[in-house]
Amino acid sequence: QGANLKASPGASAPPAAGGSAEQFRGKARLPSFAAPRRYELFLRPDLVACTFSGSVAISVAVSAPTRFLVLNALDLSVNRASIRFQALAPTEVVFFKDDGVLVLGFAKQLPLGEGVLKMDFTGILNDQMRGFYRSKYQYKGKERNMAVTQFESVDARRCFPCWDEPAFKAKFKLTLEVPSELVALSNMPVANATFAGPIKTVHYQESPPMSTYLVAIVVGLFEYVEGMTTKGTRVRVYTQIGKSNQGKFALDVGVKSLNLYKDYFDTPFPLPKLDMVAIPDFAAGAMENYGLVTYREVALLFDDKSSSASSKQSVAITVAHELAHQWFGNLVTMEWWTHLWLNEGFATWMSHLAVDSFFPQWNIWAQFLDRTTTALRLDSLEASHPIEVEIHHASEVDQIFDAISYDKGASVIRMLQSYLGAERFQKAMASYMKKYAYSNAKTEDLWAVLEKETGEPVKDLMTTWTKQKGYPVINAKIKGNDIEIEQAQFLLDGSSGSGMWIVPLTSRCGAYDTEKKLLLKLKREKLVIGSQCGDRKKGGNFWTKLNIDGTGFYRVKYDDELAAALQNALETKKLSLMDKIGIVDDLYALSIARQQTFASLLHLLYGYRGEADYSVLSHINTVTTSIAKISADATPALAGDIKQLLIKILLSPAEKLGWDPKKGESHLDVMLRPLLLTALVQLGHGKTINEGVRRFNIFTRDRGTSLLPPDTRKAAYLAVMQNVSSSNRSGYDALRKIYKESAEGEERLQVLGILSSCRDKGIVLESLNLIFTSEVRNQDAYILLRGIQPEAREISWNWLKENWELISKTFAGSLITDFVETIVPLFTSNEKAAEISKFFATRTKPGFERTLKQSLENVRISARWAEGIRSEPGLAQTVRELLAKP
Ligand code: BES
Ligand code: ZN
Repeated sequence: QGANLKASPGASAPPAAGGSAEQFRGKARLPSFAAPRRYELFLRPDLVACTFSGSVAISVAVSAPTRFLVLNALDLSVNRASIRFQALAPTEVVFFKDDGVLVLGFAKQLPLGEGVLKMDFTGILNDQMRGFYRSKYQYKGKERNMAVTQFESVDARRCFPCWDEPAFKAKFKLTLEVPSELVALSNMPVANATFAGPIKTVHYQESPPMSTYLVAIVVGLFEYVEGMTTKGTRVRVYTQIGKSNQGKFALDVGVKSLNLYKDYFDTPFPLPKLDMVAIPDFAAGAMENYGLVTYREVALLFDDKSSSASSKQSVAITVAHELAHQWFGNLVTMEWWTHLWLNEGFATWMSHLAVDSFFPQWNIWAQFLDRTTTALRLDSLEASHPIEVEIHHASEVDQIFDAISYDKGASVIRMLQSYLGAERFQKAMASYMKKYAYSNAKTEDLWAVLEKETGEPVKDLMTTWTKQKGYPVINAKIKGNDIEIEQAQFLLDGSSGSGMWIVPLTSRCGAYDTEKKLLLKLKREKLVIGSQCGDRKKGGNFWTKLNIDGTGFYRVKYDDELAAALQNALETKKLSLMDKIGIVDDLYALSIARQQTFASLLHLLYGYRGEADYSVLSHINTVTTSIAKISADATPALAGDIKQLLIKILLSPAEKLGWDPKKGESHLDVMLRPLLLTALVQLGHGKTINEGVRRFNIFTRDRGTSLLPPDTRKAAYLAVMQNVSSSNRSGYDALRKIYKESAEGEERLQVLGILSSCRDKGIVLESLNLIFTSEVRNQDAYILLRGIQPEAREISWNWLKENWELISKTFAGSLITDFVETIVPLFTSNEKAAEISKFFATRTKPGFERTLKQSLENVRISARWAEGIRSEPGLAQTVRELLAKP
């Protein structure tokens, strides 16, 4: 317990004894002269009036002379007369609304040691999906409310006055007063409940020390399925009445995950039970509250008949992610939000480790490269940020839940693990977990443990990746028997940054059994290659691939000879899946940065035309989608031919798979089919569109038809949308009807995802406006936004401008960034970037400033890329040659 005091230094300890309350305004962190040890929290939600009342008694340890207690509270009405510290009433009660801070000033210095702070308060069950909020659901044809909490990052203060920072761990003892017929859940099991007619009072067991952002409450009507871990921990999945069958898959993954993590960390699950609950209105995908994990319905429920293979996979990943947090995040917690990546990067990485062990046939580590390439993309922007990011104010925390914390975080962990070796890494993680259990840790603390356990220079190595933004591109040039390598920061705008990294380099050459490792510390270095790399002069069997399996967080630029050799290795099927993904993504990025030609990218892509693997093709699809978009702007005259070329690359695997599932086919083929069909529809492939429409027409008459199972539905919907217009809207109306009538979450969302995927202005507007109706939950708006096609960017941008006031009022936190992130990057001109930037000049909020900057940078990068393509000599020739190849 004493560790807490040491672990929670305020930004700078203020002169605690004197001064005025004003000294606590606008601070990044609460002062540390008083810290909570234990909370007794009572809450009484009123699900009809959508309000709540409560009282809290906090045991506070005062460790330095002060006459103030400074804690957090926001949007609560605190009853001033009720406030007492021991027997003392405050002489001064001040709220700093912008900071969410409550300052209590007392007449004289508080006694050192522990005392109890008490107060009563009331609040509103809001509909912003944060703090203590209400969600709506249907039961027996009637609308009902449930009460739910979502506290991460800084919203526990909206539910009860508290020290709302991760380092202030304390024990929690909760009591709820709720209608007797409802299920009332919290982090801990029920200790006892007393009934008084329609009302029950539920007392929960006291929790171990934990952070406020992990406290949770759910009150509503639910049913559940139940399982048990090998150590006898009870696990339940709670769903809406009638849907508990759909919780079975998540339950199975949940139980397996708890078993696996217990072994991995060599530490038992610390709580007596684990509940997982599907919540109808939920801002994030899922939240790892200690012992009471909450999910969006689609992130938890899986139904054999109505769900797709990709949703099965995402349920597994999500459950494994949240349960990894029960150790990494909940038992050992980041000391401050600067270290958020420890939580999110680790949970992301571990979820793949777990899912790979449960479902080896999914080849999830190849799919993990999606995470790495997403992060490499974002981190090649000037407006990126380091993994460890300074947080100056609570309002800045929400925006760091981004691809840098999650995906770059997970990727550098994978890089480190592969450098240290899986076993050594696991051992060190287990001792880290034991050392910091029930306490907090910083990034350096993890490096120190890893360094001690392995003897490797972990801190120096990793600091170059976590404290500076960006990453290097390794230039590789062959000179005699050596490969000269040189690192330089990679930026998509074509400039070169000044960053330097310690790079765990790996290479394979000629044959896969020869692997080399080198820790690159300097700017330049030589890699000696021997005859095992094949004979350079004979060509054919000579090749070298750096960054084996993409475990490193960097890109590689090969000289012409090495590149040609690799292309040859690709076409003669010498490369691993992950290496195939790496070369195409690197060349794609180098082409955007104009370090390689667009023609060379098309050439390389053409080498993938026989590819049949899901994860490789999923990356190829990302690249082809982007190419189709940029060529429409860069070379409209050539865009049609380029599309034909892209179709040529994707068509043969698509034809092999067809529309109908085959008996006994693999999970990955089931996922590949819709990926390819959707890609072909988007590229305007007539035959695929017609077939999609045909199947859809049958589906509208017979919703049980086997011609359109859940996996391929979206492709058919998208095909229908290709022909829809304001004057020919029957397909659109049919889709809207499915959306309205379907009871299945995933099916509804699949429709929502394509309603705006249309060239017709009227239809696009009609779809976007659904966002403001009760037909679309606020949590789902982004799904509609993501469907917008480049052809509809003007109309969408105008719509955004016209509705901005309403949007910024309706959507809180991260939900508002979705509007910027989906619409702005559709543009590819500097003029538009200037216009957009001007519009937002007077309208930014701390929550989305960085997203806006990044989106605008992307527009400028696209503009520069398009310009390069336009002036590239011989491009038309290349396209024609490739098209003409047999
Ligand atoms: N801790 C997050 C939830 C969260 C996200 C809280 C943003 C506050 C702000 C949770 O562990 C998480 O990462 N959820 C992911 C799903 C996961 C499978 C990547 C999410 O919500 O997208
Ligand atoms: Zn997480």
